[in-house]
Amino acid sequence: MRLLVCGGAGFIGSTFARQRVREHGDEVTVLDKLTYAGREENLRDLADDRSFRFVRGAIEDSDAVAGALAGADAEAIVNFAAETHVDRSIADPDAFVATHALGTYVLLEAARERELRYVQVSTDEVYGSIEQGTFTEESPLAPSSPYSATKAGADLLVQSYFHTYGLPAVICRGSNNYGPYQYPEKLIPLMILNALHGDQLPVYGDGMQVRNWIHSTDFARAIGHALEHGHAGEVYNAGGPDEEANIDVVRRIIALTDASESQIEHVKDRPGHDRRYSLSSQKVRALGWQPRMRFEQGLAETVGWYRENSWWWEPIRSGEYRAYYERQYGRALG
Ligand SMILES: NC(=O)c1ccc[n+]([C@@H]2O[C@H](COP(=O)([O-])OP(=O)(O)OC[C@H]3O[C@@H](n4cnc5c(N)ncnc54)[C@H](O)[C@@H]3O)[C@@H](O)[C@H]2O)c1
Repeated sequence: MRLLVCGGAGFIGSTFARQRVREHGDEVTVLDKLTYAGREENLRDLADDRSFRFVRGAIEDSDAVAGALAGADAEAIVNFAAETHVDRSIADPDAFVATHALGTYVLLEAARERELRYVQVSTDEVYGSIEQGTFTEESPLAPSSPYSATKAGADLLVQSYFHTYGLPAVICRGSNNYGPYQYPEKLIPLMILNALHGDQLPVYGDGMQVRNWIHSTDFARAIGHALEHGHAGEVYNAGGPDEEANIDVVRRIIALTDASESQIEHVKDRPGHDRRYSLSSQKVRALGWQPRMRFEQGLAETVGWYRENSWWWEPIRSGEYRAYYERQYGRALG
């Protein structure tokens, strides 16, 4: 297939682009604004591949989208482009509204005009928190943060384009992802890099927030399944095989990095912090997908990747991220 992958310079989008070029022989054009989280380095190994192109541009810019689609001669749009950090959405929701609402609208219009297949990448956070049991695609949307609320709004807009205009669109909602190339503001890379540097390990509240961990390669494959086999107008949840409380994830990372429990520092909880996410993935499993990576192995491999790839994270830890970290946690990185 010829694909336009929006937000493909980020963590999961770059994993998806790599998978599609290498394992499926697709032609991939990435359109990405390169925010602080988007990095061409994430696509370094694809740069010389004739099946791959990179275009810098924002999804809310209709000219940039039209140009990228024409250059790609795309048959489908897969949209990963998003602001993705809940803490940043609480401090400054502006960009979340622009990218998720306006950006998704511009992409949907472009897909409608050209009769393209459309995949919206979304999150379990649109369902809100669940104490027991697990969310299905029929569960009501009850987002808690500006991040998840704007993601839910984008999902509703996508569904309206299917119902109103017959756009062949699907939505794929993933649970918490982890793996290589994840920006270190997120729990797992933050803890790995802090542990390796002897920094404090800041845990929100009691650390008993439970997440349903999925490896980024598994989520990327689920999105590919939804693209190839999903039925227009449908939502597909893709949850990981394992659930774990944040504090237990931190303890695993301490063990894998030979850090010390004394580095754990309980800090003030995030406002409106969801206690637990859990996704049922039966519908996407019926399309033939299943997760391949269990959390224990995937986490060990992820720690190994960060250990071996300081070229990737060193520029981040010495740049804007330092200032962000200080604002967020009230202390400097070591
Ligand atoms: N990380 C997770 O745990 C997770 C879980 C479920 C779903 N998701 C969803 O998957 C998608 C990708 O998440 P990620 O973790 O890879 O995010 P990320 O923050 O690593 O990457 C986001 C990418 O989008 C780009 N981008 C942002 N605004 C843009 C705009 N206006 N125009 C063009 N590009 C723009 C950024 O430059 C970056 O490359 C998001 O839609 C997110 O909601 C993420």
